[in-house]
Amino acid sequence: MGSKLLNKDIQNYINANLNTDLHALLLKKSPFPEVSMQEIVQQIKGKQVAERKFPFLLKEGIIFPPQLNLEQSSSEKTALYKSKILKGNTFIDLTSGFGIDAYYLSQNFDHITLVEQNTELLEIVEHNWNTLGRQARFINKKLEDFLEQNQEHFDVIYLDPARRDQQKNKVFLLEDLSPDILEIQDTLRSISHQVVIKLSPLIDLKYLVSVLSGISRIEIIALKNDVKEVVIFLSSENPDEIICNCVNLESGESAFTFKFGEEERAESEYSEPEKYIYIPNNAILKAGVFNLISQQFGLKKLHPNSHFYTSSEKKEDFPGRILEMESIDSKNIKKKEQFNIISKNYPLKPEEIKKKYGLKDGGDHYLIFTQSKKGKIILKSV
Ligand SMILES: C[S@@+](CC[C@H](N)C(=O)[O-])C[C@H]1O[C@@H](n2cnc3c(N)ncnc32)[C@H](O)[C@@H]1O
Repeated sequence: MGSKLLNKDIQNYINANLNTDLHALLLKKSPFPEVSMQEIVQQIKGKQVAERKFPFLLKEGIIFPPQLNLEQSSSEKTALYKSKILKGNTFIDLTSGFGIDAYYLSQNFDHITLVEQNTELLEIVEHNWNTLGRQARFINKKLEDFLEQNQEHFDVIYLDPARRDQQKNKVFLLEDLSPDILEIQDTLRSISHQVVIKLSPLIDLKYLVSVLSGISRIEIIALKNDVKEVVIFLSSENPDEIICNCVNLESGESAFTFKFGEEERAESEYSEPEKYIYIPNNAILKAGVFNLISQQFGLKKLHPNSHFYTSSEKKEDFPGRILEMESIDSKNIKKKEQFNIISKNYPLKPEEIKKKYGLKDGGDHYLIFTQSKKGKIILKSV
């Protein structure tokens, strides 16, 4: 594994080079005959990623895996959120990876199992968990082989499948993941009442509901309004309803919870802009509950395709941004003024708007370019 890297002099060298240009460092010869410069740089990168994604690993004696495994890991913050909804006796993570999710999610369990096909990666995780004083059973196998021989029942099974390829602009399907959840879903549901699967925010929720059996809950998790994860919970029974929960961590906003399918029955009222304009947070936009949010908060929508809402009285508990705004004529936009420009359902992109009106980006004020039912409108924050 990488125990040579734990030598005090090597660790001092790693810590002294945390802010060094890594390309330049890679061109140098390693000052230590027993480790290569690549191995040293891997540890530096690991510490840099840990600083922003999982600071709990910034401890003496921790070893970091290659970059790809670091990138595939969850962040401490989303893992901590998920850990609060899970508890029981036995927990298994079938796609352990670097074990960030497993470390947090298994906190409220007595017996923990980690399965991972990558031998070196699992050895690193085992070493780190020993260093951190956490007990688990580590199984180095393909999960399909593990499942074939398995006789046990688990309170919670967790999976965070890896993308098979990095092709962008492609419809995101479960078949593109390793493991293929569609192939193993029945086995998983036969050995656990709760199967929890982390998926990319790009996945389509209606598609998921159409191909998976037993979905009881969907969590859409954003961190500072950036949607990071869609997490689905499969039950061994067939639940009557699917609860969907949208959270925006570190925003101070309350969660928005609804039953999947409620959107189809919800209706919006429409209006021209009133005193307050509401922009739902991205987890809610991801959930696509455009009418439900309007109905539940007593807000009117500006246009079927502009997901902006309005009211004359402020609805403080709205999960998103609330701005006091007024409609303005484009003639009243002064050159060189500074605004955050938002353009939705409008022919020009923010960059084009900036150029056309000679505006500067940023500041505390907003300009929204959009459409109401009557046509194009511009709103300015007051
Ligand atoms: C996205 S990573 C998991 C990251 C992890 N949740 C974390 O927070 O560190 C997915 C892992 O699943 C493993 N994996 C993918 N398919 C597998 C299979 N069929 N059997 C066992 N492990 C598998 C990959 O090797 C990879 O390490």
